[in-house]
Amino acid sequence: MNNFIFKNPTKIIFGKDTEHSVGNETKIFSNKILLHYGGGSIKRSGLYDRVKKSLDEAGIEVFELSGVLPNPRLSLVQKGIRICRDNGINFILAVGGGSVIDSSKTIAAGVPYKGNVWDFFSGKAAPTESLPVGVVLTIPAAGSESSNSAVITNEDGWFKKGLTNDHLYPVFAIMNPELTFTLPDYQTICGASDIMAHIMERYFTNTKDVEFTDRLCEATLKTIIDNVPRALKNPADYAARAEIMWAGTIAHNNLLSTGRVGDWGSHAIEHELSAIYDIAHGAGLAIVFPAWMKYVYKHDIKRFAQFAHRVWNVEYNVFNIEETALKGISALESYYASIGLPVRLSQANIDEAHLEEMADKCTGSGTYTVGNFMKLDREDVFNIYKLAL
Ligand code: NZQ
Ligand code: ZN
Repeated sequence: MNNFIFKNPTKIIFGKDTEHSVGNETKIFSNKILLHYGGGSIKRSGLYDRVKKSLDEAGIEVFELSGVLPNPRLSLVQKGIRICRDNGINFILAVGGGSVIDSSKTIAAGVPYKGNVWDFFSGKAAPTESLPVGVVLTIPAAGSESSNSAVITNEDGWFKKGLTNDHLYPVFAIMNPELTFTLPDYQTICGASDIMAHIMERYFTNTKDVEFTDRLCEATLKTIIDNVPRALKNPADYAARAEIMWAGTIAHNNLLSTGRVGDWGSHAIEHELSAIYDIAHGAGLAIVFPAWMKYVYKHDIKRFAQFAHRVWNVEYNVFNIEETALKGISALESYYASIGLPVRLSQANIDEAHLEEMADKCTGSGTYTVGNFMKLDREDVFNIYKLAL
């Protein structure tokens, strides 16, 4: 196990009716805020009215910016920065999913910065301060509610890039599983795929002696695997929704990374898919992850066999651990298909047209590699896209 520092500063307020506390939680930081949200799901569900009422009762002045798209865009971030600067706003409240939260985090980091906020994503600069961000979460998926990352798409060239910086942790996250009852099945399964990917990115490591975090990863994966079909069968199953929501946060708040080096190659490979084709991040991951596994499993067959046995209950064949490892990859793929996720590019109507371009963008035209479990160069990335066709 490696040395580590673990500090996750996000206050989690979890459970039924917790959105009513948003006014009081926000007031601790500000009485003039930007309320940032997406395309209208919070209005249809009635959440918007409840949040607004709580903010009004706390005497908070509210400016609004809606219209965040899945795969959130830089242009709206820049609009948000202008609104905050023009009105002396010093707090952003994100009500929605990963896209709304990431857009909020980027506005918050951009307001005090003199240059172009895209500098943070291109690597030209790093945030040294940020406005505080609060969250009311409506979809368990990205884990952004207590992560130190944001992912933004620059429409100028369709670059989707991530930024990781400790100033990006939200100050609080209100998580009421009831708010996820209205999720369309497709969003529930894409969220599940993203959560599982966050765990597997951490699980496939070269770090030795990480038994405890291995076991935490396996338990978190099994919780998602068991509860997603329950939520699909009965969208208002509070118990199932609560398990998925909390597991989704734990999957990405860095607890599962403690003492180990994660991979993150599949995320880098997927981001090029959702940048060019604007597909849901979770759908892209369901396609990329099994292909990545088939490409790299020989690097550590034992780890893949452990994954197969402990997560998917595959019988451990000591005489043929490769067979055990491959059965685990098949089990993952079958599970994705069984809940309705695409597992091939063709199922998302994606053909060979942009594979070369995506492999270039993913590796800076071959100037750097992605992933840590196995370092993948441009050719490797291209081969993984081909395996996923
Ligand atoms: O826009 P609205 O109308 O709100 O609809 C949203 C959106 O269409 C809808 N939705 C959300 N909650 C709902 C609901 N519909 C009905 N009822 C509800 N309760 O769901 C759609 C998807 O929302 P989105 O925020 O895009 O989903 P998600 O949370 O999966 O976020 C995806 C984004 O997060 C990034 C992804 O790359 C992608 O851009 N990620 C961010 C990370 C981070 N910051 O740490 C890590 C992840 O790996 C990921 O890359
Ligand atoms: Zn993800």
